[in-house]
Amino acid sequence: MAPMISNLANPDGTTNEAHMRYLEERAAGGIGVVITEYTYVDNINSRGSRNQLGIYDTKMIPKLRRLTEGIHRWGAATFVQLVHAGGKASPDINGVESIAPSAMKYFNHMAREMTQEDISRVQESFVTAAKLAQASNFDGVELHGAHGYLIHQFLSPATNKRTDKYGGSFENRLRFVQEIIDGIRSETNFVLGIRLSLFEYDQDGYGPDYGLKIANSLKGIDYVHFSAGRNAPPSSSAPFYYEHNHILKELKGRIEKTSVVVGSVTTVEDAEEVLKTADFVALGRALLADPHFVRKASTAPERIRPCIRCNQACRDLSYGEVRCTVNPDTGFENRVTPKPRLRGEMAIVGGGVKGMEAALTARSYGLKVILYEREDSLGGQLQEVIDPWKKVEFDRLISYYQHMLKRRGVEISLGTEYRGSGVYCLPDEVYPELPQSSEISIDSNVYKYHDLALSLAERGEVIMSNRSLGNLDRGRAEAFRRIAEERGVKFVDNFDFKFSLMVKDQYDIMKAMISGRRTAMEYLQSNIEDYS
Ligand SMILES: Cc1cc2nc3c(=O)[nH]c(=O)nc-3n(C[C@H](O)[C@H](O)[C@H](O)COP(=O)(O)O)c2cc1C
Ligand code: SF4
Repeated sequence: MAPMISNLANPDGTTNEAHMRYLEERAAGGIGVVITEYTYVDNINSRGSRNQLGIYDTKMIPKLRRLTEGIHRWGAATFVQLVHAGGKASPDINGVESIAPSAMKYFNHMAREMTQEDISRVQESFVTAAKLAQASNFDGVELHGAHGYLIHQFLSPATNKRTDKYGGSFENRLRFVQEIIDGIRSETNFVLGIRLSLFEYDQDGYGPDYGLKIANSLKGIDYVHFSAGRNAPPSSSAPFYYEHNHILKELKGRIEKTSVVVGSVTTVEDAEEVLKTADFVALGRALLADPHFVRKASTAPERIRPCIRCNQACRDLSYGEVRCTVNPDTGFENRVTPKPRLRGEMAIVGGGVKGMEAALTARSYGLKVILYEREDSLGGQLQEVIDPWKKVEFDRLISYYQHMLKRRGVEISLGTEYRGSGVYCLPDEVYPELPQSSEISIDSNVYKYHDLALSLAERGEVIMSNRSLGNLDRGRAEAFRRIAEERGVKFVDNFDFKFSLMVKDQYDIMKAMISGRRTAMEYLQSNIEDYS
């Protein structure tokens, strides 16, 4: 399991039941090694986000032991990913200034250049954190040397402008992390790996040859975990506008160490492709969408709830916790309750996400379910997706439902306008059609109109407001803008827009799923006699 910020820990960095259950569920799903989210190593200025996991004090050991024990029970190993956020640490979150190899602007703040004293102190924190990890029964640590955090800031020529022994040459840029590795090696005897960005997307960034050279030059590490990106999007979590296995495709050189590769691996075929080159494949978002991906991969891959690489719910991490657009249980693993077996029948009207999810919910309680859909196919509004990149991924979600409904024994009646009694699962919100006009101008953050802008641009002029892309993950926004501009869409700030609809909280797949589950539960509670 790739390291993923969950923000489920406590404000002081300690773990808790929700956080442990979230990780354990992935171990229960058959994953071999659970790598925790990036975990901060000192209580000064290393923290990158609110409610991030921390490892900086012996008082944390008992609860961390509970965490590792829960994962080990499922036969999985677990590594903690150690991070110092460096210049990327927000002074608002840490309450003190951030530090970096060189004084530089990060986001909206300036980071101070680290002194030799800072360097030694931070290196010591990494070593102490590794010792605490070993005492907490982790099987290893992974140094976070990717994604523009402190170790990566030292490795990258764009962020390391030092002229002392920690900068100026390739060997000097590696010194900061090499000394950490040597320190951990001398104090522990468990697995020590490092995550590196194979390449950076930034204009002044390094390419795969440089990334590979770092990997092959570091001494004393057991494995290298290849990711990508520094600050520029899409980083490693590429949205559906990028190919699957987008990092693997850049890994052309020889890897001299045990390797792990991550990046847009969302199908069993993607994983098998990675394993032709690397020793291990890491899954990130695929495990948010379906914690049991691995177990199902070997027996019934069609039962995997697919990550659609939308970068919606899972990327809202400034204030939010981990969530997934296609899996309402993600982040709520400690709330899943056992389901009693009930007797009865339920007719469901509407074969969109809401109706399909309601049908699966009712079946999971043992009810006989018949699902009526007016159209000749299931999927509802998912069938209306016209953006070709998006469609490939969203169609996989429809296939998943088709398969699961059949497997669970839901009777499906397509092309049927049913008007009898039952549970009506029509969408809670349908956004209006665009007004007919020769010149289309759109000011809206609703995804439906983004799709429309792309297809209408093939037939005429389309103008879109810049703020229409404001809610999108940066990777998705930039890719959309590039593709749209290639098709002739013009982005502007001010215009007399013919159509304007800005929403605060849009009705999306996750909301439809939750609504379907709620509708089914309300029906059970008030109509099924043996519901208790
Ligand atoms: C919600 C979320 C949080 C992430 N947090 C981390 C992190 O803490 N450390 C890290 O190295 N990468 C982090 N990443 C990147 C993932 O580990 C992974 O490299 C990326 O998502 C690509 O893999 P995938 O396509 O399988 O999701 C995060 C990604 C997501 C989606
Ligand atoms: S929110 Fe979207 S991209 Fe993120 S894990 Fe879920 S399906 Fe994948």
